[in-house]
Amino acid sequence: MASFQKIKGTQDFYGLDAVKLKYIEKVCSEVSESFGFSEMITPIFESTGVFTRLGDESDIVTKEMYTFLDRGKRSITLRPEGTAPVVRSFIENKLYANNNDLSKYYYFGPIFRYERPQAGRYRQFHQFGVEVFGKSSALLDVDVILSGFAIIEKLGIKNITLKINSIGDLESRTNYANALKKHFDGFKEEMCIDCQRRLDKNPLRILDCKIDYDKDFIVNAPKIKDYLNEDSKQYFNEVLQGLDAFKIPYEVDYNLVRGLDYYTDTVFEYIINSDDEFNNLALCAGGKYGHLVKDLNGPDIPGIGYAFGVERILGLLDKQNIWPDFKNNVDVFIMSLDEVSKLEALRLAFFLRKLGLVVEMDYKNYNMKNQFKLSDRLNADYILIIGESERQNQEISLKDVKQRTQINVKINELLKHLPFENLRNTEEIFNYENS
Ligand code: HAM
Repeated sequence: MASFQKIKGTQDFYGLDAVKLKYIEKVCSEVSESFGFSEMITPIFESTGVFTRLGDESDIVTKEMYTFLDRGKRSITLRPEGTAPVVRSFIENKLYANNNDLSKYYYFGPIFRYERPQAGRYRQFHQFGVEVFGKSSALLDVDVILSGFAIIEKLGIKNITLKINSIGDLESRTNYANALKKHFDGFKEEMCIDCQRRLDKNPLRILDCKIDYDKDFIVNAPKIKDYLNEDSKQYFNEVLQGLDAFKIPYEVDYNLVRGLDYYTDTVFEYIINSDDEFNNLALCAGGKYGHLVKDLNGPDIPGIGYAFGVERILGLLDKQNIWPDFKNNVDVFIMSLDEVSKLEALRLAFFLRKLGLVVEMDYKNYNMKNQFKLSDRLNADYILIIGESERQNQEISLKDVKQRTQINVKINELLKHLPFENLRNTEEIFNYENS
């Protein structure tokens, strides 16, 4: 019988990769906290209705959701993005009630999309995202964009371009949609089947088409900037002026419309410039959503946010080779030379681990040579050796692997000889004998 394999488009994280994933989460969380965000953890599945309002013509909703009936015949969807769940929670828990000011959340977790797996594109991936709810302000948009930039800087990532656009308020968008419809009507024959359908329902989505995107009728389509009303134009100008003050390099990209329908006014993406298949992929993407909270039956409060693709961050840090030095070695390896010493080793390991050291030992009755090999593989800084004579003298042999020195020390003085910071403040220093 064939053995089981992971589902296509998913990944296992173990060893160093698991450490890397946690590191990315830590940096993103710390930077976000310095910007005043606090964490929100929502379930990974929701009622399907939470997501259907993201756009009845967006690829995510029409083709990519993992939706199923649970045993109670409720339609459930594994979250295909993080914004709608946070909005649902914001409304359900009335988080707006405590606070006339801003509500700022960040989240980290798995996201599910039935997409064709390829470089940087998975069916289960992780997003780190932020969402802010409260009064609309161009300065806030700039601050949110800056917080994403601060994460990129903190991780040390190079060669990223910020692309930004405004898709205007509802009035501007409606005018633009009408102009697009008029333009595209003449090209119906040349369009893919999906775009033909989009023409009536949501012509903006045609600009996002993964099949027709480089056809002339899309490249030469009317541009949103010519359809922004005065309010939207002014708002966008204020956002750009704000960015100018920070000297963040950006490009205004009038074709940037984003794949989800909830955006209004500011939209942006941090794009990867690279000489491989990651080139032009978005590392992070987001924007302002003026009406999503209201559309999900909440109060009339606008929001803005973004999400990073964590696997894309991981891939970039690998490629640019800018990981910090992860300490993946054990502090102490305990070698035991006979059966009785093995139990003593286990007792000592338990004691040292309680004090915060990473301790490993041999459980298998390996001979000395194999125990040295094992400790080598584990990269141990120190080796402790217990045998019959050490036990009789209440001593232990301590080997400093880097310095290549070895001394015998009294067991109740052992901690004095182990130079680990976390041992210095403990009251248990000489308590091993009584432990
Ligand atoms: P999104 O553009 O659909 O936006 O996804 C955000 C990021 O998730 C992308 O820029 C990319 O880095 C990553 N990503 C998307 N799909 C995949 C995939 N299949 N495999 C790996 N990474 C992927 C959103 O999800 C919005 N909720 C962002 C947002 C937050 N807007 C406002 N607030």
